[in-house]
Amino acid sequence: MHFLSSGDARHEELAESGDLLHSLARLELSALNQNLAATFDTPLDRLRWSATKWEKYRGRDVIPLWIADMDFPVAPAIERAVMAHVQHGNYGYTSPPADLAGDLIAHHAQHYDWQIEPEWIVWLSGLVLGINLAVKACCGEGGSVLTFSPVYPPFLSAAPMQGRRTLEVPLTIDEAALARGDLRYHIDFARLEAACLPDTRLLLLCHPHNPVGSLFTRADLDALADFCVHHDLCVCSDEVHCDLILDGSTPHVPFARVLAERSPADLARSITLHGPGKVFNLAGLGIAWAIIPDAALRRRFRAVMQRLVPAPCCFGFTALQAALRDGEPWRQALLARLRSQRDQVSAALDAMSLPHSHPEATYLTWIDGRRLTAKVGNAAHWFEQHGVGLSDGADFGAPGFVRLNFAATPSVLDEALRRMLEAVYRFDAGR
Ligand SMILES: Cc1ncc(COP(=O)(O)O)c(C=O)c1O
Repeated sequence: MHFLSSGDARHEELAESGDLLHSLARLELSALNQNLAATFDTPLDRLRWSATKWEKYRGRDVIPLWIADMDFPVAPAIERAVMAHVQHGNYGYTSPPADLAGDLIAHHAQHYDWQIEPEWIVWLSGLVLGINLAVKACCGEGGSVLTFSPVYPPFLSAAPMQGRRTLEVPLTIDEAALARGDLRYHIDFARLEAACLPDTRLLLLCHPHNPVGSLFTRADLDALADFCVHHDLCVCSDEVHCDLILDGSTPHVPFARVLAERSPADLARSITLHGPGKVFNLAGLGIAWAIIPDAALRRRFRAVMQRLVPAPCCFGFTALQAALRDGEPWRQALLARLRSQRDQVSAALDAMSLPHSHPEATYLTWIDGRRLTAKVGNAAHWFEQHGVGLSDGADFGAPGFVRLNFAATPSVLDEALRRMLEAVYRFDAGR
């Protein structure tokens, strides 16, 4: 092997050609990024590669707006990086690229104003896995875990699946807003206090919150931090939706940063889960991470992973690195598109007189279908019979509600809303 020292003429030549290649790659990428908005209009045949969202209704005339993934093609920067990896042909056991932790640290500093250390990062192949690991690492068998509902179903099932108990704390609906058709929730701290038991060890937080789509206020986060310190709880904060804050100028505040601002001892009770799966639509690539600042907690977390948890997919690392380095123009274009589709959905639901969230984050609108259920039974089944597949609120701990995923191409979303409008119109007309 020939090593070149800096100063060597050949080294400089290579460095120059490297710079040139780099500049060419940048030019190529900016050309690919030219017309990003249009890519969100292009229908993608998702059944070709068995997308779970579409497989559920294969062969049936039901438009799938349920599971949280998007019908948009992947960001050009990611496609390019993964294609290069595919063509290179190396798909064996893969360690995280040496500079990936640095990219992640820079991303946290730039986007969340949070300084993390490389050794805090634990790579995972998914977030639901991380939730279950956190339950096992933080809470002894038979102990209890707090979480707010309605919530993404694995928050409710993780504790019982791991031989612990879930203590569900319902978020409270703002009834005055509901009367105006605006579905908003807040934390009832007295209820949270009352739910906490002597054997409670963990709070599972969904931040931003799926399915209600809201951001916790700084006051909420401070009060939650007080609560966790007072009761000596660990917190597992799943922040996978934080890059989907639709008003792009509102910064995400990691819950662990709130703890860190109090003291290193408070930071030590945190596990933060995150990954590119939602914002860059990479759920099929199995790449996520936990940030665990405390060495002892990290050891416990790694101990429960031992010999059970597979490493992330090699393409996941490649895709994540491309997303961190070059994904921002696509993300901004995505947010603009999602904002307008959120507003379109909101207008249609207003026309149906169905109270709903106006999500601050995520591409998921949460709908109160209770005015239908007295007559039609399960609202999700009823909409399915009318050609639109929504998520059933019962799975989130809220029967009578449904969740609509608006990250669909415009023609698909238009048709789904038309079907829903027609169904509700006929319902109201008694036909
Ligand atoms: C809050 C939250 N966490 C985790 C997940 C799933 O993550 P993964 O596919 O990495 O297990 C979802 C998917 O919708 C989610 O909404």
